[in-house]
Amino acid sequence: MNILLTGGAGFIGSHTAVELIQEGHTVVVVDNLVNASPESLKRVGVITGTEPRLYTVDLRDRDGLEQVFAENRFDCVIHFAGLKAVGESVAKPLEYYDNNLTGTLVLLDVMRAHGCKNLIFSSSATVYGSPAEIPITEHCPKGAPTNPYGWTKSMIEQILTDVQFADKEWNVVLLRYFNPIGAHKSGLIGENPNGIPNNLMPYITQVAVGKLPQLSVYGNDYDTPDGTGVRDYIHVVDLAKGHVKALDAIGRRCGLAVYNLGTGVGYSVLDVVNTFSQVNQVEIPYVIKGRRAGDLATCYSDPTKAGEELGWHAELGLAEMCQDSWRWQKNNPNGFES
Ligand code: NAD
Ligand code: WQD
Repeated sequence: MNILLTGGAGFIGSHTAVELIQEGHTVVVVDNLVNASPESLKRVGVITGTEPRLYTVDLRDRDGLEQVFAENRFDCVIHFAGLKAVGESVAKPLEYYDNNLTGTLVLLDVMRAHGCKNLIFSSSATVYGSPAEIPITEHCPKGAPTNPYGWTKSMIEQILTDVQFADKEWNVVLLRYFNPIGAHKSGLIGENPNGIPNNLMPYITQVAVGKLPQLSVYGNDYDTPDGTGVRDYIHVVDLAKGHVKALDAIGRRCGLAVYNLGTGVGYSVLDVVNTFSQVNQVEIPYVIKGRRAGDLATCYSDPTKAGEELGWHAELGLAEMCQDSWRWQKNNPNGFES
């Protein structure tokens, strides 16, 4: 199939490009490079032998996007493009709503105009808010996200639901990711956050490589086995493979479908720190700090539905996630700029 990846130069998009190309699909990328480097796609080319074509276009630039659709015929769009920093979204809500919502609305309108009505969307476990049940199944009602970023995910899900309800020619898959970490085994592509990382694993790898002095562990008084927050970390390559499987659902004309993509296993912050230290033989100095605003004690998925309907299961465990994150960081201490 001919697949357009919006935001395909980013962390999850570049890993998905690898898996799609290796399965014989053709990949085209639209990315404004606000949080990515074109080097990531060059490296996708090194891994697969085929570098995806990049259009450096902002999704809100309707003329630019029109041009992309005029020059290509896409069977499906995988929509990764968006701003994703939770704290920044609290400080800059208008920028987040504009980028994520306007970008999606322009994309959908251009897709419709060109008769491309198949879309896979990067959603997030954040749409469950404070979840009514753990492990979280797709039956769990959506809740109130604690930040504007999360609200953009919830609102885009609603927009896509309404669009598919109104026009049954659309096939829409909402993929709710849990906590993606890890990197491609080659060590050539990985997560490359701007500035000081917000998320746990890139913070740990930057401590390990000596760029940051120590990790702050946000709270050890939660109702969890060791008091630190528990999450469902998923290897980004497993996550990428979930998108390839979701294409099969699109091919079966699934209408609207929703899947959790997680492992179903929860690990605490200290589990991650200790596993990272052990498998990589690197000390991670840390201090216990107060809780971070908006954090949940525990969040992990029930991924049964994706297993039953897509034949998808996460295969890689926490040790491989830690090894692969470290290989990427060690080989590329300054990300794609090194
Ligand atoms: P990323 O920042 O690495 O990738 C997003 C890409 O979108 C970047 O390359 C960026 O340059 C591009 N982009 C942003 N706004 C754009 C616009 N207006 N026009 C064109 N391109 C634009 O992030 P990621 O971790 O790869 O996440 C991909 C998607 O998955 C995002 O939608 C994110 O919200 C979602 N998601 C991520 C996580 C996570 O923890 N990484 C978890 C759940 C959901
Ligand atoms: C994980 C655990 C922290 C950093 C976020 C978004 C979510 C989704 C994934 C996009 C928590 C603790 C972290 C640190 C720490 N993104 N921690 N010290 O918060 O589960 O999810 O990313 O959709 O929407 O909210 O991930 O990696 O930030 O935190 O102790 O320096 O690590 O408190 O328990 P989170 P995270």
